[in-house]
Amino acid sequence: MYAYYLSKQNLDLSVAEVLALSKNEKYTLIDNLLVLDELVDYKRLAYTKSVYELLFLCEKKELKNKLQNYDFEKIYRENFRLNVIGSSEFETGKLADIIWKKIKKPVVDLKNAKTKIDIIFSKQIFVCLLIEELKDKFEKRRAHLRPYNHPTSLHPRLARCLVNLANSKRILDPFCGSGGILIEAGLISLDICGFDIDKIMLKRCKENLEYFKIKNYKLEEKDALKIDRKFECIVTDLPYGKNSKVKDLKETYFKFLFKASKCVERMVVVFPDCVDSEKIIKESGWNVKNSFNYYIHKSMTKKIFILGKHC
Ligand SMILES: C[S@@+](CC[C@H](N)C(=O)[O-])C[C@H]1O[C@@H](n2cnc3c(N)ncnc32)[C@H](O)[C@@H]1O
Repeated sequence: MYAYYLSKQNLDLSVAEVLALSKNEKYTLIDNLLVLDELVDYKRLAYTKSVYELLFLCEKKELKNKLQNYDFEKIYRENFRLNVIGSSEFETGKLADIIWKKIKKPVVDLKNAKTKIDIIFSKQIFVCLLIEELKDKFEKRRAHLRPYNHPTSLHPRLARCLVNLANSKRILDPFCGSGGILIEAGLISLDICGFDIDKIMLKRCKENLEYFKIKNYKLEEKDALKIDRKFECIVTDLPYGKNSKVKDLKETYFKFLFKASKCVERMVVVFPDCVDSEKIIKESGWNVKNSFNYYIHKSMTKKIFILGKHC
């Protein structure tokens, strides 16, 4: 069993992101810990903080007994350290002492331990072996830190999450702008394609992709409302606002979704909350597989939809 320690920023989205990469639909969620029978390709995740092998789950009153009975020798490598997360009731030193006595030649290394054991206090107690703390540099890729900024570009963490929700080897962003979504897909080595009607935007997008040393990309000056060939999957943030070059949002979104429904099987699409997205989706021939609200700031919440053609 594996435990995914999720960000609470948008828990529904955090859960869906892990499940999108999993073959298994059965899971348990306890607070922000997702327990799954599968180790997914976790290095690409955006809203998971740490990934663990779950040694056992227990209640508070059973903890000491369970630690005494667990065979720590079988998971021990070279040296160890223990972290206790979310409890001031149990002293780390005392719990570490129990583990210490269960190992033949115990060595403690607080800085570079090969065996990292975390005890996480939640509704239940998780005793886990840390596989990896995920520290991707999403913050360093924020739009204003790229060669070319775009004021409405999504946060890279959200862009990566959208790409993960799509779980496709090839993706198209038909409104690619400066490339926020394509960068995140390119960094995990997907085949990427971007359209934009604005030549200058495409030039900026290219420079941004090159800056992150992304090679596997195709960019085309093209109107997204005229998609005319098959694509495995679309991931896109629909244009909106003053600089978007879109006059009538509703009409543009409908035309785009309708045209895309003829060539694409699946889509992860972000709507601004100022339009009746459900109505547009339904009328353009798509079905909603899943949806999430995503708070951006006081006056803007976006709606994320995973769309398919069949129920
Ligand atoms: C919201 S921005 C995309 C932001 C992008 N996610 C980024 O990271 O920069 C929208 C983009 O859609 C483009 N656009 C607007 N109408 C379009 C259309 N009909 N076909 C293709 N691109 C279009 C605009 O030129 C603009 O670059």
